[in-house]
Amino acid sequence: MKIAIAGTGYVGLVTGVCLAEHGHTVVCVDVDKEKVERMRQGISPIYEKGLDELMKKNQDRLSFTTDFSGAYRDAEVIFIGVGTPEKRDGSANLKYVYEVAEQIAASVEQDCVVVIKSTVPIGTNDKLEVFLREHLIHSVNIFVASNPEFLAQGTAVRDTLYPSRIVIGTEMKAVEEVLMRVYEGFDAPVLVTNRKSAEMIKYASNDFLALKISYINEIANLCELVGADIEDVAAGMGYDERIGSKFLHAGIGYGGSCFPKDTKALHWLANFHDYEMKTVKAAIEVNDHQKLRLIKKARKYYKELKGLTVAVLGLTFKPGTDDLREAPSLVNIPILLDEECRIQAWDPVGEEKFQERFPEGIEYYETPEEALEKADLCLIFTEWNEVKTLSPQCYQTHMRHPIVLDGRNCYRPEIFQGTDVIYDSVGRGACGKE
Ligand code: UDX
Repeated sequence: MKIAIAGTGYVGLVTGVCLAEHGHTVVCVDVDKEKVERMRQGISPIYEKGLDELMKKNQDRLSFTTDFSGAYRDAEVIFIGVGTPEKRDGSANLKYVYEVAEQIAASVEQDCVVVIKSTVPIGTNDKLEVFLREHLIHSVNIFVASNPEFLAQGTAVRDTLYPSRIVIGTEMKAVEEVLMRVYEGFDAPVLVTNRKSAEMIKYASNDFLALKISYINEIANLCELVGADIEDVAAGMGYDERIGSKFLHAGIGYGGSCFPKDTKALHWLANFHDYEMKTVKAAIEVNDHQKLRLIKKARKYYKELKGLTVAVLGLTFKPGTDDLREAPSLVNIPILLDEECRIQAWDPVGEEKFQERFPEGIEYYETPEEALEKADLCLIFTEWNEVKTLSPQCYQTHMRHPIVLDGRNCYRPEIFQGTDVIYDSVGRGACGKE
């Protein structure tokens, strides 16, 4: 099929590449000329496992352009995968969705289905269809369907090629059939529902996962107070299939481009309808506090943080991505900078973007070991493999005062017993020299 994709961020680009892999002819549209040029050369603008290879493999079926009218003119299906960032009030900003819609309406010259992949507030599909029809220049039939995306960063290609489910939101059989043809080669359960339910499935799924994380983080905080071990508690809970073992990893809170934004957007939407989502509100509040857990703990070991040398291992919101959005490092490092700490940071891919945001005051190192050199404190924000494989001896050898505060529970605390390292993680007692 002839498919156009609006937006080449995580959702748009990965969708486009994976649809090309399934034999469709795909043109990806973006306003950023430089980015388009790089993609034409086979360079992916995002760090995502397997994406470059698939881009190269499918280059005959995959093209990139800034010429939206050429791309949309005769597309059978147009996917919208642009961002829906958070507004100051927490609601979703649909500016980019509507900008693209205007371009689509001005360009299409044959009947087509516009599919919204971006996460949008419930009711947006209905409104966008009206908007498109009002702005059409040519006399064609245009339909809008919802098809939310559930990919996670770091596993985006796998999640798209082998999705947990394909949700198709449409009230029209003909539109459903078009989407079924798009996904013909995919092996996944398909749920066809109305557009509003499809939109809600996306928010409800993301917010439930965020809630699950905040819940386990609160249990972890309580574990510390009563002397239980969160890893054992989570393992014990996970055996119950009704609970499941996934998303029960306690830590310093969730970040990324979805959970923080989607929890706030749903909370805002509920408020708009004069309803308070108390569970979602709690997930947000717990997460905001959780992000500051390590700094609070640091004050247990040092009355004053002022002037300390602090090693920071991991800057991105999770491993496997260079994305910094809502990463715990972003709230903690400014606090350390205010305390005039010397910051020695390491991250395998996040450094460049971090440097853009904080051009001064941070020293970056090639290896975790170098970042640990003569540090008074180590804060672990991301569970990169390079961090998980460091030994207690490494901390002991390199740090001036080996105090390790682990926000991602990278190690079993016992391995620090008998060493000089003080190891304090989330939801488990501190271990090592007192
Ligand atoms: C998430 C959803 O997983 C995905 O389905 C949706 O489409 C987009 O949002 P993503 O943000 O890429 O994907 O990452 P995810 O792996 O879900 O992690 C989000 C955050 O939660 C990370 O900061 C991670 O460290 C944190 N997390 C995750 C935990 O703290 N504990 C867990 O058990 C799982």
